[in-house]
Amino acid sequence: MSGLKQTALGMVAFFILLMVVFWFEPTRTTQLGFDGVGMQVTDTVERMEDRAAGNVPPPALPLTKSGDLSVNAYKNVQVLGHLSTGEFVGMMNSITAWVSPQQGCAYCHVDGDLASDALYTKVVSRRMLQMTMHINEDLKSHVKETGVTCWTCHRGEPVPRYIWHEEAPQDVLAASLGYNAEQNRFNGDNGTSLPRTAFEQFLLGDTSIRVQTNTALPGENHSSIKQTEWTYSLMMHFSRSLGVNCTYCHNSRAWENWSESPATRATAWHGIRMVRHLNNEWLAPLTDVFPPNRLGPNGDGPKLNCATCHQGAYKPLMGKSMLPDFPPLARAMPQPPRTAPAAPAPASPAAGGP
Ligand code: HEC
Ligand code: HEC
Ligand code: HEC
Ligand code: HEC
Repeated sequence: MSGLKQTALGMVAFFILLMVVFWFEPTRTTQLGFDGVGMQVTDTVERMEDRAAGNVPPPALPLTKSGDLSVNAYKNVQVLGHLSTGEFVGMMNSITAWVSPQQGCAYCHVDGDLASDALYTKVVSRRMLQMTMHINEDLKSHVKETGVTCWTCHRGEPVPRYIWHEEAPQDVLAASLGYNAEQNRFNGDNGTSLPRTAFEQFLLGDTSIRVQTNTALPGENHSSIKQTEWTYSLMMHFSRSLGVNCTYCHNSRAWENWSESPATRATAWHGIRMVRHLNNEWLAPLTDVFPPNRLGPNGDGPKLNCATCHQGAYKPLMGKSMLPDFPPLARAMPQPPRTAPAAPAPASPAAGGP
């Protein structure tokens, strides 16, 4: 080979090496199971840093005990009446910062009449206060001591970033050209074209998620391809919501096998039941309170899924608990009787109020 050719080849090789070095994204791998079974989560350092930066709770505003019991000081408190007015106003400031920082108090309150329930947002919020307390007090099998606050789902927005509605039935004209089985179109909830109706099946309805046969012969298992696709669709949603892969909860050698699965799978099992319960018992009853622009194509109200709280992290806010700063949200408290002289009756709610 001539010297010139050698130099040229050497330079090409050098540039390829440079490209590899500069294109290489450093990754980090965490082993989750036994050696040699491939149970590990690999992520790029850049993505991990982004996630850590995007999951910092906001600074806690103070709750100071001072003043009368709220139930006496105000006209229409039903959930936070046991707090002193100092703590009550502290909670209102935090709720505003978590849910409607742009819109302020006026997002839930009629100007000049804080006691009025005329705005649907206030009625929803009162229920949300109770729901948050219920999650933290009664659903510890999933949320443990970490718990949630309004921020966990809302993150400074009145409508949480990740919600869902029931899928609209396929357009009659399009269906006459072929039924799409609610799939084979991009599904933003899990980044695939798998069935879009998995949430209706599993996070609202109680369809069995289990499809695998653990014996050599089919036996009694009559699960269809469609059911398997629903399960797969849900599983992809889990992975995406938590920013993990399948081995975070399974040994992929035997998906169905619980004894080989990490403990996270049991937490996820409780999570499925929790989400189903919250959608049916807490959000569905609010359907009539929401205005039409908050309803889905079938007239159903907004619902939550795993991403509503997790937002791409294995634990919401990477496991940081905000509850120590907000004890009133940790549990529901019996409301003390009103002992102040009866206040003048509040103005009747405006038309369209609940
Ligand atoms: C996201 C909704 C929301 C926002 C924003 C909000 N509040 Fe409230 N507010 C409520 C709810 C719900 C209640 C009723 C609580 C209860 O029943 O225990 C309430 C009740 C009150 C009451 C008691 C009124 C009475 O006489 O019954 C006061 C005072 C109050 N809020 C002040 C404020 C102030 C000041 C702000 C802004 C810093 C604010 N709120 C922002 C939802 C909100
Ligand atoms: C587990 C998740 C979750 C938590 C925790 C939560 N919310 Fe919500 N919230 C939702 C969902 C889902 C909706 C329905 C979204 C919509 O309105 O389309 C909602 C709706 C609302 C709305 C109506 C917004 C609108 O414009 O339609 C208000 C106001 C609200 N929440 C306040 C609160 C307050 C205050 C807290 C804390 C006490 C809270 N939320 C805690 C999930 C949550
Ligand atoms: C966050 C935890 C979690 C992640 C991540 C996860 N799964 Fe699951 N998976 C579960 C749980 C929990 C069940 C059982 C649900 C039940 O029985 O109600 C399950 C069930 C299954 C089943 C049905 C097993 C049977 O008994 O028939 C299959 C198949 C499955 N997962 C595949 C996957 C695949 C493929 C992925 C990755 C795309 C994945 N899973 C990611 C938690 C997870
Ligand atoms: C109401 C908010 C909320 C919703 C909705 C939610 N989670 Fe969680 N999840 C949490 C909290 C809080 C934790 C942290 C508990 C702890 O500290 O161990 C958690 C923890 C977990 C863990 C344990 C992670 C680990 O490394 O230990 C898994 C797995 C999980 N969630 C899966 C799910 C799945 C799957 C869904 C949907 C079916 C779901 N979650 C829905 C709040 C939620």
